[in-house]
Amino acid sequence: VIRLWRAPLALLHRLEPEQAHRLTLKALALGVHPMRRPVDDPALRCRLLGRDLTNPLGLAAGFDKDAEVPDAMLAYGFGFVEVGSVTPLPQAGNPRPRVFRLTEDQAVINRLGFNSRGHAAAAARLTARAARPGMVGVNLGANAASPDRVADYVAGLRALGPLAAYVAINISSPNTPGLRALQGKDELDGLLRRLMAARGEAGLRQPIVLKVSPDLQPDEVEAIATLALAHGVAGLIVGNTTLGCRDGLNSRWRGESGGLSGLPLFAPSTALLGEFYRRTRGRLTLIGCGGVASGADAYAKIRAGASAVQLYTALIYHGPSLVGAIKRELAQLLKADGFASVADAVGANWRS
Ligand SMILES: Cc1cc2nc3c(=O)[nH]c(=O)nc-3n(C[C@H](O)[C@H](O)[C@H](O)COP(=O)(O)O)c2cc1C
Repeated sequence: VIRLWRAPLALLHRLEPEQAHRLTLKALALGVHPMRRPVDDPALRCRLLGRDLTNPLGLAAGFDKDAEVPDAMLAYGFGFVEVGSVTPLPQAGNPRPRVFRLTEDQAVINRLGFNSRGHAAAAARLTARAARPGMVGVNLGANAASPDRVADYVAGLRALGPLAAYVAINISSPNTPGLRALQGKDELDGLLRRLMAARGEAGLRQPIVLKVSPDLQPDEVEAIATLALAHGVAGLIVGNTTLGCRDGLNSRWRGESGGLSGLPLFAPSTALLGEFYRRTRGRLTLIGCGGVASGADAYAKIRAGASAVQLYTALIYHGPSLVGAIKRELAQLLKADGFASVADAVGANWRS
């Protein structure tokens, strides 16, 4: 933790996690952020899903579910920000408490269950910032009570796609019963068929990426990669929170149900990312997400095959100065290994 953030973080950590989060969003919305984006090392320049970025570090979905503060987070130095998950209708999510800080494990367990203010609210906010610079992707979810979840994603694509740099289809939240079944071969085929048809009808050019679970089996990896390529999906975010990784946790909250994020997720999510890269070799853009807390972590995901990385949980423990620290270390690591750019290092593990 860089000194300046020690006191505010200690205070926030005395609050119930969701209260701390709400307070953080309020402060950000009120202008507690740098006035100007920091200047990035040229070695960090990269291209992601058709856009030029000054760095490959993104904010993962879930921090800014309702698109309240994307520009504040860009000002802290993220190369791109993903808002959401947004559901069509507003919904409250699961009963509280539903977010737990596992401080000893540098992890979080959440079972929020898509608390969302809905498409219309997010569309209004994204419309209000549409002229601003910065890459903002939109992550789509489905309402818990929806009779047709695929229709929810299609509605999200139509409502929010035009306002997004890319659209992420979240079919991997463990907190909406049955949602992850959409990763199965037949269901995914049907989902992608309808999504791509809607994208064509609406004349949308925004790339679509799938956000997958870190708990996939090898046959599922193969099926998802094959279907994504067949349907013209641009990329994958690997991945969401895990239902596994409970062994070895020390925190008193380790038995809570929900998705686990943070440090324990780093190794398995990076291994899965590598699996996807090995099978697709650059034909799908991969975004590595899970347990990134340092420049070395980001670099490891890039070497495993990620064109960009995202984080959320480490921000809770280290505060926003982590963004600059990760970027500085990543630039050093790239140069130390003789890479002139991020792109040169993508998938390097599989070449040597
Ligand atoms: C409190 C919390 C809420 C989250 N909400 C969402 C969400 O709405 N949609 C989504 O796709 N992922 C969500 N995630 C998952 C993160 O985007 C990310 O995939 C996961 O936490 C792994 O990254 P990390 O270890 O850097 O946190 C959430 C994670 C946390 C901790």
